Amino acid sequence: MPESWLSDPSKALKYWGMGRDLHDLKIAARHTVGIVKSVKQLGRTDGEPDELLDINDTINKALALLQSDLRRVSVRMQPAVLPLIKGASTEYVQIWSNILKNACDALQQTDAPNINIQTKFVNQRILVTIANNGPEIDEPTRRKIFQPNFTTKKGGLSFGLGLGLSIVKRIVSEIGGTIAVKSDETRTIFRVKLPVGEAYGEA
Ligand SMILES: Nc1ncnc2c1ncn2[C@@H]1O[C@H](COP(=O)(O)OP(=O)(O)OP(=O)(O)O)[C@@H](O)[C@H]1O
Ligand SMILES: [Mg+2]
Repeated sequence: MPESWLSDPSKALKYWGMGRDLHDLKIAARHTVGIVKSVKQLGRTDGEPDELLDINDTINKALALLQSDLRRVSVRMQPAVLPLIKGASTEYVQIWSNILKNACDALQQTDAPNINIQTKFVNQRILVTIANNGPEIDEPTRRKIFQPNFTTKKGGLSFGLGLGLSIVKRIVSEIGGTIAVKSDETRTIFRVKLPVGEAYGEA
């Protein structure tokens, strides 16, 4: 008689894990469809973004996408009530998922790894801060991290192209925002400021 997973708890756990991975894959696939759509939109002549977005939602989408990477990380999200802004959701999801993925990578050797996300509305701008308690990024590295092809993830188990933050920087500048990084031995913080445009007040 074939072995039943019901009689073997370790097998049940394996199938549960597979289910969870499939779930992550489904979210990733849906996101890919979004990216393809947004790439297609680049070819549009009007260039008008077609959504009214709550930035908190785009952060939550990025968190859902990175579920597997975040399994051992404690995430704290402190959202403020934000005005809606016009834009393409996939662009924002890409900003947050690149920053969050880097945070996960940086936390691999950290005991009690955590990520703190805060959103605020200050001086007519949306401020998003993403902090992790990973190792300090030294000054020479900090100066180069937004450059294309700069990576410290070579060899070993991690592998990077060094493209994530250069893409983030490009999208943030195109939107009219700014991005900055601060790092010391206790934590690393990425701070993104976004303009709200005419949609302000519609939240
Ligand atoms: N939160 C962070 N903590 C520590 N180092 C970081 C953090 N975020 C980025 N870095 C550093 O900045 C470098 C560049 O990041 P970037 O996202 O552009 O490329 P990558 O992660 O190496 O590769 P890719 O994103 O293309 O997979 C990283 O290799 C890493 O050294
Ligand atoms: Mg990266």
